[in-house]
Amino acid sequence: MAVSDPNFEERNQDEKKNTARGGFSTALGALFATLGSAIGLGNIWKFPSEAGMNGGAAFIIVYLLATLFVGLPVMISEIAMGRRARANVIQTMRKVSPSKKQPWWLIGVGGVLAAFFIMAFYTEVVGWVFAYIFKSITGGLLSTDPAVTSQAFIDLISDPWQALLWQWLVLIFITVIILRGVSKGIEATAKRLIPLLFVLLLIIDIRSLTLPGAVEGLKFLFTPDFSKLTAAAILSAMGLAFFKLSVGMGTMTTYGSYWKDDQDIPGTTARVMLSDLFVSLLAGVAIFPAVFSFGLQVDAGPSLLFITIPTIFASMPFGGMFMVLFFLLAAVAATGAMLSLIEVPVAFLNEQFSLPRAKGAIITSVLLALIGSLAALSSSVLADVTVFGKNFFDLFDFLSSNLLLPLGGLFIAIFVGWFWGKENVKRALTNDGALQNEKLVQVFFVIVKFVTPLLVLLVLLSGFGVFS
Ligand code: PHE
Repeated sequence: MAVSDPNFEERNQDEKKNTARGGFSTALGALFATLGSAIGLGNIWKFPSEAGMNGGAAFIIVYLLATLFVGLPVMISEIAMGRRARANVIQTMRKVSPSKKQPWWLIGVGGVLAAFFIMAFYTEVVGWVFAYIFKSITGGLLSTDPAVTSQAFIDLISDPWQALLWQWLVLIFITVIILRGVSKGIEATAKRLIPLLFVLLLIIDIRSLTLPGAVEGLKFLFTPDFSKLTAAAILSAMGLAFFKLSVGMGTMTTYGSYWKDDQDIPGTTARVMLSDLFVSLLAGVAIFPAVFSFGLQVDAGPSLLFITIPTIFASMPFGGMFMVLFFLLAAVAATGAMLSLIEVPVAFLNEQFSLPRAKGAIITSVLLALIGSLAALSSSVLADVTVFGKNFFDLFDFLSSNLLLPLGGLFIAIFVGWFWGKENVKRALTNDGALQNEKLVQVFFVIVKFVTPLLVLLVLLSGFGVFS
């Protein structure tokens, strides 16, 4: 067909629209959707609570190194493979594998599993966030006494019905969006939510920075104290880098399969990484100055968001309004991340079993409600059930961030560096020679082949106590 035919592009577009496989409609849309996956509770909830527990700036420096030498290279690898194969994560690994006999598709299986584990506890935390938006509008949460806010949180998580209902509400919300498809659902939502997220974050940052004694919080965020850095803290920092950038499990492979052929992979992923980092730091700036200003504990851990934050807002003028905005921000951030998590199994069911998206999405959500209820009930009915000394909620979190994602990332880096090979990498990252970025590709290849696998392996082994 002659490309000069003026109607070709139009017809080609129409044809694409009619095929089952969707895609992001513009380069900017792909950037927003991918960023929407990266930004989430990882920034607003995990990053501040883990940095708070592990010495602030020192932890952030390790996190940064992990992002640069592990997270970003794995992200580039995943997007490149997904775009080449144009398929869900399991089929992508099959297609790019040099021989049918090599079981690289198992990386995809691990990815689908990880998506379920993460969604199981993630939807629960988002459930709390939804509950807090509702409760802060009705004014039920504000108290300057940490004992009261802490009791309110315990009341919420230890009531099995509340925990389950909020989680199901979250699942229904996400399913409704994902049913609309890749472009009209995921991309359109991300394009609206990301700008809103920045506006909300800036408002809260300004509020926090203008509190008396805010400087102490900034010092905590930006002056390193390496004495708190244990091997376990380093493993957490690396786990967080995987979790934050949504890598090691096929989310980015799946999203890469929706990217356009002429999109610059290293350039766009670097933008995603930097913006995500910026949002994490802005979240730190929203939280730590306020924590210090009111003399509260920085190392409260996961409850930082749900116990410390309400105490802070109760102590300031218009606190009720800021609290609604804050939890709205968390919900906005989490939405894009959940869409990308659920898309991994939905795309797989859709392509592997030719299930319509709607069916795949509903099956996935029902499965998620089942597995998720193990996490939702882990502070009430199932509180005494532990595996490896952890309740289901903590187990799903630990298994995914600190084991499945790093292992997935390790094998992805080994595959790309040693099996997919330099020629394929070069073609994928230069867009078949269209981009003049050969030097960058060289550097990337050395990192992904040697540095990334070695670092992941070392951190995993030492985090699990092999060297001690
Ligand atoms: N990156 C998301 C966050 O920070 C979480 C996530 C992990 C999303 C893995 C997709 C895959 O909240």
